[in-house]
Amino acid sequence: MNSTKSLIQTSLMATLIVILGLMPPMPLGFIPVPIVLQNLGIMLAAILLGAKKGSLAILIFLILGLFLPVFTGGSTTSVVFAGPTAGYVMGWLIMPVALAGLRRLVLFPHPLVSFALTWLSGVLLVDVIGAIYLAHYTNAPLIPSLLSNLVFIPGDTIKATVATIIGAKYRKQLELA
Ligand code: BTN
Repeated sequence: MNSTKSLIQTSLMATLIVILGLMPPMPLGFIPVPIVLQNLGIMLAAILLGAKKGSLAILIFLILGLFLPVFTGGSTTSVVFAGPTAGYVMGWLIMPVALAGLRRLVLFPHPLVSFALTWLSGVLLVDVIGAIYLAHYTNAPLIPSLLSNLVFIPGDTIKATVATIIGAKYRKQLELA
C-alpha cells in the first residue's frame, strides 16, 4: 500500500468524521453529554482503516479541531478536552487499536463476531471511558455515571450495526486495512 493512497484514505476518513459532526447534537438534560452521530465515523475509521490508519484519521480530525470547529455542535478540540466529553474522545482515539487487538483473538470470521468486536471497542469501551471521565469531571459517583451512560447504548448499538455492515461490504473490497 503506497503512502499517498494511505494519506488520501486517512484524510477522507477524517473528512467523513467532520461531516458527521454537522449533524446537530441531541441534548439529554440529565447528563452533560449529547447524542451525536460523529462516533459512527470513529467506528468506520477503526473498521475500514485498521489500527494505524484509523488512529491517524482520528488524529488528523483532532488536529483539524485545533483550528476549526469540527466537533458536533461546533466545538473545537481544546474546548472538548476541557469539558465533560473528553473521556469519550480519548476512547475514540483508543478504539482502532482496541478493535485490531480484539480481531487478533478471533479464530474464524463471522458477521456476528465482527459486530460484537465493534460493539465492545466502539460502544462499551468508549462509553465506559467516557463515563469514568465524566464522573471525575463532575465529581459524581462512578456507578450513577455509568448507569446514566446506558442512554447511549441503543443509539450506539445501531451505529455499530451500520458500521459493521458497511465494513463487511467495503473493507476487503477496497483493501483498506
Ligand atoms: C463532543 O463532541 O464533545 C464529543 C461528544 C461525545 C458523545 C458520546 S460518544 C459516545 C456516546 N454516544 C453518543 O451518541 N454520545 C456519547
